[in-house]
Amino acid sequence: MPPPLQPLTATQAPEAFSESFYRAHGKRYAEINEENRQYVWTSDARFQRDADLLEDFMRLLPQGGKGLDAGCCAGARDLDIFCQRGFDAIGLDSIPENIRLSCERKPHLASRLFVHDLREALLLPDAAFDFILCGYVIQHNEPQDVFGVILPELVRVLRPNGALRIIFKHGKGIRSVFDPGYQLTRTFRLYDEGEVLDCLETLGLTMERDYVPVRFTDYKLTDHVVFQMRKRVGMGNPRKKQV
Ligand SMILES: C[S@@+](CC[C@H](N)C(=O)[O-])C[C@H]1O[C@@H](n2cnc3c(N)ncnc32)[C@H](O)[C@@H]1O
Repeated sequence: MPPPLQPLTATQAPEAFSESFYRAHGKRYAEINEENRQYVWTSDARFQRDADLLEDFMRLLPQGGKGLDAGCCAGARDLDIFCQRGFDAIGLDSIPENIRLSCERKPHLASRLFVHDLREALLLPDAAFDFILCGYVIQHNEPQDVFGVILPELVRVLRPNGALRIIFKHGKGIRSVFDPGYQLTRTFRLYDEGEVLDCLETLGLTMERDYVPVRFTDYKLTDHVVFQMRKRVGMGNPRKKQV
């Protein structure tokens, strides 16, 4: 078992969470996200871009099922795709500018978009959702929030047999990379995939049957892993993990 990740230092933390980045660059983020760029490397040739992963996840879900896009970002691209395909989903993001921009670009989603910081308990009942998306979000958060609040809360609001898809930058420590999409250096918290898996399994999830986690490298040359998991039937409210 790897040692627990240390909290970021005071000078690293604000940049790593990227609040200022998303406040300032939401519009550009939405544009790049809509481009649906091809990965520069993938462990499975069926999955060349985010849209392929979404399709793969969708086939696990009940027609018209209820979903939560946790960290839906400016533009709410994935929420839009799911709603167009007949799912009944909502999106949350902590940055009001992201939600405002999403409502402007996609007014048909306005009633489905909410400002909420996932580091705080969700004001939603247990077992409310058939599926949850949490894409590229934990990399902006501290381990004590990810393991102590964010993941337990997402699992709490997932119904038994419901499906979670989480994508995150994997590795150890903190990584700064030059992002040519913005001509800026950005900083991310990397997560050990064994530690994330261990946490989700402890909370009551199991990897989808026959699913082999997909890995890919994006245009920024950062490495990601994708888990598709289901909540075991008979699990109560998940216990928060101490970190
Ligand atoms: C890289 S974008 C992810 C976009 C989208 N989920 C996707 O898969 O394309 C990360 C988003 O997560 C949001 N985010 C990060 N930490 C969050 C938190 N603690 N609570 C709510 N939103 C958060 C950021 O504001 C940002 O909009």
